[in-house]
Amino acid sequence: MCGIVGAIAQRQVAPILLEGLSRLEYRGYDSAGVCTLAEGQFYVEKTIAKVESLKEQVATHHCPGTLGIAHTRWATHGGATLVNAHPHLHENLALVHNGIIENFDTLKAELIKVGYSFKSQTDTEVLLCLIHKCQQETAGDLQAALFKALAQVRGSYAIALIDRNHPDRLYAARQGAPLVVGVGIEENFIASDVLALLPVTHRFIYLDDGEVVCLGASRIEIFDAQGQPVHKDSVESPLDLESISKGQYRHFMQKEIFEQPQALANTLMGRLSDAGLNPEAIQGLDAAFLNQLEQIKIVACGTSYHAGLVGKYWLEELTGITTSVEIASEYRYRKAVVRPHSLFITISQSGETADTLASLRLAKAQGYSKTLCICNVNGSSLVRESDYVFFTRAGSEIGVASTKAFTTQLLCLLLLAILIGKQRQYLKESTVSALLKEIATLPELTKQVLTCDEQVSALAEQFAGKHHCLFLGRGIMYPIALEGALKLKEISYIHAEGYAAGELKHGPIALIDQDMPVVVVAPDNALIGKLVSNIEEVRARGGRLYIFGTPQEVFQHDEQTKFVSIINAPEVLQPILYTIPLQLLAYHCALINGTDVDQPRNLAKSVTVE
Ligand code: G6P
Repeated sequence: MCGIVGAIAQRQVAPILLEGLSRLEYRGYDSAGVCTLAEGQFYVEKTIAKVESLKEQVATHHCPGTLGIAHTRWATHGGATLVNAHPHLHENLALVHNGIIENFDTLKAELIKVGYSFKSQTDTEVLLCLIHKCQQETAGDLQAALFKALAQVRGSYAIALIDRNHPDRLYAARQGAPLVVGVGIEENFIASDVLALLPVTHRFIYLDDGEVVCLGASRIEIFDAQGQPVHKDSVESPLDLESISKGQYRHFMQKEIFEQPQALANTLMGRLSDAGLNPEAIQGLDAAFLNQLEQIKIVACGTSYHAGLVGKYWLEELTGITTSVEIASEYRYRKAVVRPHSLFITISQSGETADTLASLRLAKAQGYSKTLCICNVNGSSLVRESDYVFFTRAGSEIGVASTKAFTTQLLCLLLLAILIGKQRQYLKESTVSALLKEIATLPELTKQVLTCDEQVSALAEQFAGKHHCLFLGRGIMYPIALEGALKLKEISYIHAEGYAAGELKHGPIALIDQDMPVVVVAPDNALIGKLVSNIEEVRARGGRLYIFGTPQEVFQHDEQTKFVSIINAPEVLQPILYTIPLQLLAYHCALINGTDVDQPRNLAKSVTVE
């Protein structure tokens, strides 16, 4: 999604802005631009290529100045063209924007009537002209104009605005899209994400919806939507630059796959001890509420939604509480029935996904008793707006395709289920201890599963030139098949579908031929007998099978079948462990297909518009 960086300093800001944009690249974008101000003149460079090209352009043409704004654009209104790329300029003003102005066409028509004309197809240029018009009406008072314009706008935005006539200030505002203020010494910044500003500061102020900030090099003034001053303290970010570099790895995704043993160990840290599960694992979770709990609803998007689907199996099995899972973009637009004593859980790596956030707000209005967020980003909107938070502690995830965030989400869901089951005495103490003992082995088992990398890499060769692929799983491994298919399609561009293996004969079996690989997730569990029957259905129709499983006599070995051996692991850990070879398969197929692994086409890491 779009990324914003802005800076006001005593030194040249172009290098800070460009470095910030590089660090926002992972969010996904299709054009980029920068605008600086020096001696009353704007200097603008834009590209529809990578930020690297923008850096070259700025090196050639120079963007001087101690005040500037910059942007990576993920197209919503109008194609990825230079004209549509931000910053947008109108006379004395320059603006960058992340989000969607929903009433832009009505506003545009009104502006055209009073003489404005537009160069781009963007909603951003409409907002810019609206601010300009308001500035005419407020005798040049930019702050008053900004409030006046924002009051007329419907939709979501994070914006940064500069005025040629006011080189001493940078305005920014937030409504439904992320924005942080970076606090420096004699310099201040804004950005969509703290990662953009780590080279220049570690102190941040998180803006809330409706807030507007005016930055000078040595002052920060924050206002609420009514224009009243607001005091907010800055917080120190624990992130360091090391955590956002590729190190010895070729891609962030590869690094993040191999970081999983450590990430999972971090998720467990302090939550699991010899005495069992630490009840403080989830900030503030209150026992009385858990005892009354009657229903759980999980809402999320993408990979996080798949984590929710796995969580449902655990929550129902280990707590006895009815649990349902929904895609956030669906949930937010239907009339759901809410029972008393219900818990609403959101799952999100970024904590900023627009549909998930809107669902949380809706759930609160609908009367859910409590809300819990399983999230990877401290300070994010979902974290701030939920009653309880369970941090995944995966560390920064830069690759667009989610890997370590997913497996740590799974671990949080498993711990949550055990915690609730234990609290409600649905689980016996002995069952809890046995489960926790198995969970403690997870980081080590993850390391062992990662040793299949070479074998999976060789297997991936056989996917070269294939256009379609089927992933099969049963029971709790069904959502893992869905996630395997999602990973493959998003980064290798091979069309892939995940199916519950029992559904094969209700449709997808018609597609089986030697050109469509069938990947089967087949751990040794209670359903293996049933799964073997489904495998035979594929084999009988000449399908090519790629089975990930524990070696057993139940699997027939022939030239139609390739087998990747996965260590025998406790059943409760299988969903987490079997995710790993599927991540590796997707990664190696992407390498063979020569795609942009960390920033696959058209995708965004943090989806801040609906
Ligand atoms: C995007 C990302 C996915 C992610 C989904 C939900 O589509 O590319 O990797 O699963 O958003 O994001 P969240 O941050 O809410 O987990």
